[in-house]
Amino acid sequence: MTTTRPSLGMPEATKAPEGAGVSRRSALKFAGIGIGSVAAAGLGVGGVRAATNGVFNAGSGDPYDLWHEWATMPGIDRVVAAGVLACNPHNTQAWRFTVNDEVINVHSDPRRRMPLNDASGREHFAGLGCAVENMVIAARSDGFTAKVVLFPEGTESDHVARIVLGKGGTGQDRKLAAAIPHRHTNRGPYNATPVDLSGFTDQGSRVDGASVLWIADKAAREQLGRLYVEATEAITADTAQSTEAFTWFRSARCDIDKHCDGLSLDGQGLGRLTRFAAKLLPAQSRTDGDDFWTKATRDVHTATAAAYGVIIVDDVTNRTAQVAGGRLLARTHLTATSLGLALHHMNQITERIDRDRAAGNPDVFSARWAALLGRTASTGLVSFRIGHPERTPGLSPRRNLKDLVTASYSSSCGAQRSESASTA
Ligand SMILES: Cc1cc2nc3c(=O)[nH]c(=O)nc-3n(C[C@H](O)[C@H](O)[C@H](O)COP(=O)(O)O)c2cc1C
Repeated sequence: MTTTRPSLGMPEATKAPEGAGVSRRSALKFAGIGIGSVAAAGLGVGGVRAATNGVFNAGSGDPYDLWHEWATMPGIDRVVAAGVLACNPHNTQAWRFTVNDEVINVHSDPRRRMPLNDASGREHFAGLGCAVENMVIAARSDGFTAKVVLFPEGTESDHVARIVLGKGGTGQDRKLAAAIPHRHTNRGPYNATPVDLSGFTDQGSRVDGASVLWIADKAAREQLGRLYVEATEAITADTAQSTEAFTWFRSARCDIDKHCDGLSLDGQGLGRLTRFAAKLLPAQSRTDGDDFWTKATRDVHTATAAAYGVIIVDDVTNRTAQVAGGRLLARTHLTATSLGLALHHMNQITERIDRDRAAGNPDVFSARWAALLGRTASTGLVSFRIGHPERTPGLSPRRNLKDLVTASYSSSCGAQRSESASTA
């Protein structure tokens, strides 16, 4: 494949996110579409939309190249690219990187925060932690050592982490690194096979300051499932919160190509025929999408979860704890991938807890969340379901490295060469 991703440091205009398309929830009003409508839509106008809307090129083209090219990328590009391929909230990719020889700095991009869906910033900083951990794993697997300092300029700063690479690593984390280009959020149904959770302790899935609480017991799963559905209903009833989420959905291929971020139909865990129909038919409204999301949460996501995991930290409002929790989340997701398990991040409950607190609403979720965790609600950072997948998840788009990275390298005569990512 011809690479469209030059090495770090080649500037190009950065794309600013703009609202477009349907919400992550809205992907999916299509489950009830019959074969007849799909066939009809496939003819005439539908055929034109199919050609322009990514029916025939899902998972290929510029926004997806990094997934395909990562395994053969060289040196430090490969380490930074591993960060860009990390899971992150709403695929906002709210990160920027500076690279100075063996030092990689990770910065938050505050313009990509979601104040209504992530009022405390826990998901934003957890997502940055996911990028940090993916880079550590990639670096170690390549024989580097990786020393991480979180918030080297203090927790008020956007400078989230400094990663210093060194020689003399032992090649640890190779198995997790191999999972990096295969890890995707799987929002489809899972089958009834129980999950063997022992695999998560075998693979060195530990990060200081964070742990995973597993909820596999049937009664607890059912209670938690009901809480997720209720929280989903609360989000969709909150027009402002729902509208903010809607701006990160890219329903048309041209929007994916333009922004290279956000959520799209390919990542929604739809069956092949349903996804085909969804791409052919006109984009759904926010409210239709919200209705579908609520239904999918009830009938698919919670109904087929084999187990839930909650990342536990001392204090979910602490920035360092949020990043540490994200690091463990990334490690857990890669471990699941390496074990052939599907993982779907689900944060409706904590999104509502933070939203209610910020908006001054009555707190309707914390007590039941705490009861399910068996500990105070302020320790449950982010959560997810796992299981054996019935469907292969689609790829999510990624922005180009050259839009995200500012690099300076020592030249052979010791002078510094500097190349900057354009500002957006
Ligand atoms: C901290 C965090 C919170 C997330 N919350 C949700 C969520 O509530 N619902 C969901 O469907 N996906 C959630 N995701 C998954 C992201 O949407 C997903 O990682 C992103 O779209 C990129 O897709 P990928 O994981 O397939 O690469 C979350 C991811 C992270 C790291």
